[in-house]
Amino acid sequence: MEGEWREGRLYPLLGILALGTFLFSTFNDNLTTTFPVLWQPIMGFVGTNSTHFVITDDGRGNQSVVYFNGWNSYWLMEKSVWGPSRSKVSNMLKIGAQMGLTVCRTWAFSDEDGPNALQLSPGVFNERVFRGLDYVIVEARKRGIRLILSLVNNLDAFGGKVRYVRWAQEAGFNVSSSVNDSFFSHSAIKDYYKAYIKAIVTRKNSLSRIKYSEEPAIFAWELINEPRCSSNSSASVLQAWITEMAVYIKSLDQKHLVTVGLEGFYGPKTAERSGVNPGEWAASLGTDFIQNSAINSIDFASVHAYPDSWIKHTDLEAKEKFLSIWMDAHISDGESVLKKPVLFTEVGFPLPINEKEHDRMLKNVYDRIYESAKKREAGAGALIWQLVEEGVEEYADKFSFIPADYPATYKLITQQSCRLRRIFSSSQTNQNSC
Ligand SMILES: *[C@@H]1O[C@H](CO)[C@@H](O)[C@H](O)[C@H]1NC(C)=O
Ligand SMILES: *[C@@H]1O[C@H](CO)[C@@H](O)[C@H](O)[C@H]1NC(C)=O
Ligand SMILES: *[C@@H]1O[C@H](CO)[C@@H](O)[C@H](O)[C@H]1NC(C)=O
Ligand SMILES: *[C@@H]1O[C@H](CO)[C@@H](O)[C@H](O)[C@H]1NC(C)=O
Ligand SMILES: *[C@@H]1O[C@H](CO)[C@@H](O)[C@H](O)[C@H]1NC(C)=O
Repeated sequence: MEGEWREGRLYPLLGILALGTFLFSTFNDNLTTTFPVLWQPIMGFVGTNSTHFVITDDGRGNQSVVYFNGWNSYWLMEKSVWGPSRSKVSNMLKIGAQMGLTVCRTWAFSDEDGPNALQLSPGVFNERVFRGLDYVIVEARKRGIRLILSLVNNLDAFGGKVRYVRWAQEAGFNVSSSVNDSFFSHSAIKDYYKAYIKAIVTRKNSLSRIKYSEEPAIFAWELINEPRCSSNSSASVLQAWITEMAVYIKSLDQKHLVTVGLEGFYGPKTAERSGVNPGEWAASLGTDFIQNSAINSIDFASVHAYPDSWIKHTDLEAKEKFLSIWMDAHISDGESVLKKPVLFTEVGFPLPINEKEHDRMLKNVYDRIYESAKKREAGAGALIWQLVEEGVEEYADKFSFIPADYPATYKLITQQSCRLRRIFSSSQTNQNSC
């Protein structure tokens, strides 16, 4: 009897509760996918003044010099495509902000077949994935973080330049000589890439209603992740491509900085620097740090640092020595040859393998940047490769880690953020996590 009574009353009640929960979560999901964001923090654009990054146009009419501590999480867009995993993205940005980091480098491309591809075929986009990128940008701004958005991969992951070449072949173009590197020279492929640039740069964010070209939470456009063009070791093919593409972006967007995405190797034309390269092989990859970064429309130089992969089978001291010379050379080039800021956009040391060694190498990088900041030199910051969090381990490589799992590393990163900030802010300024 009691049982019947309970069934009679409780089941409709449970039904209403369940329906309410369903409606709430659906509505909630729609709130962040359909309705515009009405309030956004004020943010200035990042600009340059000779060898310095400056924050301009902050509404107060002043330019201030700034040095950056930042990180890479290349997977943000992909995790923003589907509602349930979006919390991973906002949480990662929150963790970054808690560590005092102010710039995050991430992929604004996905050219590989599959449900998360942004570009399905040349100039054809998956709107759902684009909304994922919209979400990343809105969340970054909310946390006071600026994004370096990379526009294509030299490597095969997420499609890369090889995918563009295949599209051209599928369209019937005769792409025969040095197939993969024809990405940089074939006119049809260059047109595909320009169409991509145009779609991204002129995109209007579906959440904030702000055009990407007007969005201060975008730090810079990066032309390509780690370009190499080994079929033309003199670097002239890449030089022409960078020039053409950088000029093209600037024709669409005058507010944002543009960088290349180089690893930083010196080419044969910069023979005096060949001793700085990690090996003879590095001069034959078709890139040249000096020439490529000197191009007018390139606003700042990008450099990576992977001593562990580049000079294998050496001891810690040899790696430290390499790193020190590598950083000094590039900062000095920025200072006296390029007269542009130099940002170390990927620095990676295997962490889970050797925590102590990792932190020692990272501290070397941070000390050099700190010294540069104190002297107002061209070494403008470093971005660690790369941070992940629980539930996104599928994106982890041997250089990736969850910050909370490594308290000493977490502290090292946070201290760097704080001491860089302290150089430039008066004591009464809000120090956030510092
Ligand atoms: C650029 O830097 C120079 C030298 O530090 C300074 O004199 C000048 O005022 C700066 N320009 C702007 C627009 O802030
Ligand atoms: C600009 O900066 C200077 C020096 O830091 C300061 O004295 C001045 O009040 C600032 N101007 C505005 C409009 O914030
Ligand atoms: C494709 O181009 C190569 C030279 O780049 C040429 O030798 C070949 O005949 C061409 N093939 C066709 C089908 O046009
Ligand atoms: C081009 O790239 C693809 C994918 O990485 C690779 O399998 C192929 O060997 C490359 N072709 C040449 C000619 O290097
Ligand atoms: C590289 O490309 C340039 C321009 O196309 C050409 O003049 C030069 O001979 C090429 N160099 C090599 C080593 O292939």
